[in-house]
Amino acid sequence: MCGIVGYIGTKKAVPILLEGLSKLEYRGYDSAGIAVFEDGNISITKDEGRVNHLQDLLNNKPTNANIGIAHTRWATHGKPSEINAHPHADNSKKFSVVHNGIIENYSDIKKFLMDNEYKFLSDTDTEVIPNLISYYYDSTNNLLEAISLACKDFKGSYAIEVICSDCPDRIIVAKKDSPLVIGTSKEGNYIASDIPAVLSHTKDFYLLEDNDIVEVFPSKLNFYNQNLELISRKTEKISWDASSIEKNGFEDFMLKEIYEQPKSIRETIGFKLNKEKIELDNISFTKEFLSNINKIFIIACGTAMHAGLATKLTFENLCKIPVEVDMASEFRYRNPLIDKKTLAIFISQSGETADTIGALKLAKEKGATTIALSNVIGSSITREADIYLYTHAGPEIAVASTKAYTAQVTLLNILALYFAEILEYSDTKLIKELKYELLQLPNKIDDILKNYKEVIPIAKDIYSASDVFFLGRGIDYPVAMEGSLKLKEISYIHSESYAAGELKHGPIALIDNNFPVISIVTDEMLSSKTISNIQEVVSRGAKTIIVTNQDLSKNFDYIIKIPKTHKYLTPILSVIPLQLLAYYISKEKGLDVDKPRNLAKSVTVE
Ligand code: G6P
Repeated sequence: MCGIVGYIGTKKAVPILLEGLSKLEYRGYDSAGIAVFEDGNISITKDEGRVNHLQDLLNNKPTNANIGIAHTRWATHGKPSEINAHPHADNSKKFSVVHNGIIENYSDIKKFLMDNEYKFLSDTDTEVIPNLISYYYDSTNNLLEAISLACKDFKGSYAIEVICSDCPDRIIVAKKDSPLVIGTSKEGNYIASDIPAVLSHTKDFYLLEDNDIVEVFPSKLNFYNQNLELISRKTEKISWDASSIEKNGFEDFMLKEIYEQPKSIRETIGFKLNKEKIELDNISFTKEFLSNINKIFIIACGTAMHAGLATKLTFENLCKIPVEVDMASEFRYRNPLIDKKTLAIFISQSGETADTIGALKLAKEKGATTIALSNVIGSSITREADIYLYTHAGPEIAVASTKAYTAQVTLLNILALYFAEILEYSDTKLIKELKYELLQLPNKIDDILKNYKEVIPIAKDIYSASDVFFLGRGIDYPVAMEGSLKLKEISYIHSESYAAGELKHGPIALIDNNFPVISIVTDEMLSSKTISNIQEVVSRGAKTIIVTNQDLSKNFDYIIKIPKTHKYLTPILSVIPLQLLAYYISKEKGLDVDKPRNLAKSVTVE
């Protein structure tokens, strides 16, 4: 989704801004642009297309500017085009603005400004921002005041950078419900919507809070609240390594991230299992508190929601508390039954997904105790929740999530075990076994990855299919959902997942010769039933691919064997061949694996 970069300091701005934008390409975007100060005026360069194209345009306009703002746009209001790309200027061309988020009341503001003789060129909501600032500037003649008044009028979400030709020594930034950070260094200050964009320049970051307005000078920062009272903010040291966001010899980020899973699981487990009983930073629940909880919600979007589904069973069986898993976008508008006895867990790799944050706010309002699981330190969701926990998967760049998912399933299992120990779950042997098996996961994933070549002929065989089904029962069903999502995200093949028993209630009508059906069969108790369902599609000519930890007869087209582990942890192993399969199918089709069309890594709009 949209990305923001900014720089002010002693170095040349354009190379820093372009580098930052290219680091944000993974978020998904359709246009890019830059504004710099040039001889007292603002010069804007922008167009539809990739950052490379923007670079070509800038090659024809050499500049030594050392202040600039930049943006990658993912269209929401108005199609991808030069006019709709950011930065946007006001009518007088005095102000230039880039914006992430959505100004929900932009049509009212636009109407008000048009009644005051302002003209609009683009279809975007963003264009009201520089014009409303300009409107207030005319009466106040004070940049900060004009921005604060404009921000007070905006409904919705925004992270903005503003430059003004009357004040060529500063960039002003402001944010609400959309992330923005400022990295500091001796050579200047770096602004970004995401830390990786500028991580090669500094590790010291201010993570801005909602309604912050900041004057950013080359070697000074002034922080204000929306009423323009000076406030103080602290820096955080970011431990991520800049090289961890490079490809390190892998052809694509997605492949690199698939291979990083043993490490990310090891780091997510960390020292949590070292003591007799699990201890988690930031949580100290009591038996009294947990015994009082009568419902657990697990809420998330996309892959993160699949991680919730894959661990519902663990929570229910170990804690004996009913668990409901829901999509954040549905949960927040269905008036869910929540009270003080509800525990609500929110999962988000980025920690910035608008629907997940909205759902979290709702659960909090209704009295639930809220826990956020995120992969990004200081992300919005961790600041909003009562308690937060981190997966330690490292930066995930590819749009299709892989290592974040397995780290989430790992952490959720640990959380369930933590609850079970507090609740004095009677089967201590099972708890011991799960802890042991968690520690074996990284080596078992390594073993699966060593056999990656098994997947390539399958990819070559089915890459031209137009439809694919994924089947699974019990703990394998959420994995079927995740496998199907991976495939459609990066190969554009239509795919659907079904609980294997549901197939005969409709979908089987679609099966004919060579229709690929990918099944996950790992639960010994259910495998004979799933196999019967697979036989039903074999009889109708389907091409069958099975991911299993069992010894099955050779009656199927392809069998991918994975190591055994405890049932609750199998979703961490069985998903790996499906990630690889989606990857190699996408490669076979010659697609851009890391930046699939129409998708965004971090979905900061509803
Ligand atoms: C987008 C991404 C998915 C991700 C989902 C939730 O749709 O493309 O990969 O699962 O958002 O993201 P989150 O950051 O909240 O986990």
